[in-house]
Amino acid sequence: MVSATQKTKETIEAHGGELINRQVTGQERAELIEAAQSYPKLTLNPWSLSDLELIAIGGFSPLTGFLSEKDYISVVENLRLENGLVWSIPITLPVTEEEANKYEIGSDIALYGELKLEEKYTYDKAKEAQNVYGTTDVDHPGVKRVYEKGNVYLAGPIQLVDRPKHDEFSDFHLDPSETRELFKELGWKTVVGFQTRNPVHRAHEYIQKIALESVDGLLLNPLVGETKSDDISAEIRMESYQVILKHYYPEERTRLVIYPAAMRYAGPREAILHALVRKNYGCTHFIVGRDHAGVGDYYGTYDAQELISQYENEIGIQIFKFEHAFFCTVCDNMTTAKTCPHDKSNHVHLSGTKVREKLRNGEQLPKEFSRPEVADVLIKGLRQN
Ligand code: ADX
Repeated sequence: MVSATQKTKETIEAHGGELINRQVTGQERAELIEAAQSYPKLTLNPWSLSDLELIAIGGFSPLTGFLSEKDYISVVENLRLENGLVWSIPITLPVTEEEANKYEIGSDIALYGELKLEEKYTYDKAKEAQNVYGTTDVDHPGVKRVYEKGNVYLAGPIQLVDRPKHDEFSDFHLDPSETRELFKELGWKTVVGFQTRNPVHRAHEYIQKIALESVDGLLLNPLVGETKSDDISAEIRMESYQVILKHYYPEERTRLVIYPAAMRYAGPREAILHALVRKNYGCTHFIVGRDHAGVGDYYGTYDAQELISQYENEIGIQIFKFEHAFFCTVCDNMTTAKTCPHDKSNHVHLSGTKVREKLRNGEQLPKEFSRPEVADVLIKGLRQN
């Protein structure tokens, strides 16, 4: 593994041209810790902590801190930072008005590191919800968060001193600088990134392997930050990923690395964020299938693909788009409407939601849904929870 500060020759440029590193080490770290003793302290919730981490490790390159008001408005209204670079989800630090009043503009705040407070601003929640999530319905988990969070955003550059360790996943915990180095060591010139918040089911496996036919390697990059409470926990999922990789994937062409972000469920806009982040991790390709990062019926099956298509020539990572995949009992295989000639009555449709439903009802997962080894891990895991 390489140190986070080591310069490596990039095969694919980070978004904006430079892989950001806002982690402080050595003497600088010691000095910051000393200085921070006198700073006012802000306790971050898990969501903001994962945003802080992703900024610091370069996952959110080119961001170096929480968005300024100008950048925020530009992202919400135009899907771009103020400088014109595509950016789809506002990365902000919300606090209550009472909390915000404790901090002076120009001061430093201690938060597992430091925030140089350059701005505090209020924002229009309905507008953020509508533009970013496409709805103001508070039943949408991302929108619910918008309405629950504090009314003021703190903005400014950050530095990270103490990062979340993710000890439970330490074997799979690599920063973007490290995955880039890893791909080089493995000789992978082209790498497809796969985002998921679910156990890998048969449709996932199908589209990953089709993609893998065209590139050198697959980065299975599951999101392990905050998800809604009925999603399967990251701990159980991580076990299931290891099992499916062991039994069904070529070891030399696949790697499992955590993506320590919170899930927004922002569908099309989150698909763009997911692609940009995977570019920062060094992927050259990214998969967007059916209803990517969707929830309930808020987005159309291919809305994410349509939105990302509008920015594809700017975002610098190639998008593999896949039709809704299902199992056909006549083909006796995974397939899509593009390749299967048989009547719909022969099609077994699966989704993360259906897998979760079946597991909760104590039903077996059929082989059309899940590899048996994965089903075993999930059933065992959910029984223990
Ligand atoms: S999420 O993070 O995008 O919400 P999910 O696990 O549901 O995670 O999906 C991961 C990726 O697989 C997404 O790109 C999604 O579009 C794709 N996907 C999920 N199910 C299917 C399916 N049945 N057919 C095609 N693509 C799918």
